[in-house]
Formats: sequence, C-alpha cells, structure tokens
Amino acid sequence: MRILVDVGSCCGHARCAEAAPDLFVLNDIGYLDTPEIAVSEDQEAIARRGAGACPEGCITIEEAEA
Ligand code: F3S
Repeated sequence: MRILVDVGSCCGHARCAEAAPDLFVLNDIGYLDTPEIAVSEDQEAIARRGAGACPEGCITIEEAEA
C-alpha cells in the first residue's frame, strides 16, 4: 500500500498528522508536501485513518498489487 497526496490541494488542516503523526509529517509551515508515502503492513490501519481525516480529500490510498 502507498499513500498518494494531492499536495497542491493541501491547505494545512493538519488532521492527517493528528491521526497518524508517524506517516504524515508536515513541513515548516504546516502543509503536507510529500506526494507519495510508503506504508508498511502494520501501518495500514493508521494510514486509512489519517487519509480519511483530511477534510479536503487530499489523501488517496493505493492498495498494493495482488
Ligand atoms: Fe493537508 Fe489535509 Fe493534512 S489539508 S495537512 S492533507 S488534513
């Protein structure tokens, strides 16, 4: 699984980072500016929680190929 971030749409709500601070690391001005984040198996649940927390829908989960 990986996380894809529409970095141009992030407006700094920071709810992703509150839900999953190890995965969603904001930059110095409080924006998520990492377009792609690798997710290990044990981080999948928290990744989904963080993605779902963004009110702008900036974060998409891409499931691993079977
Ligand atoms: Fe940005 Fe959404 Fe997180 S607006 S800081 S990606 S909650």
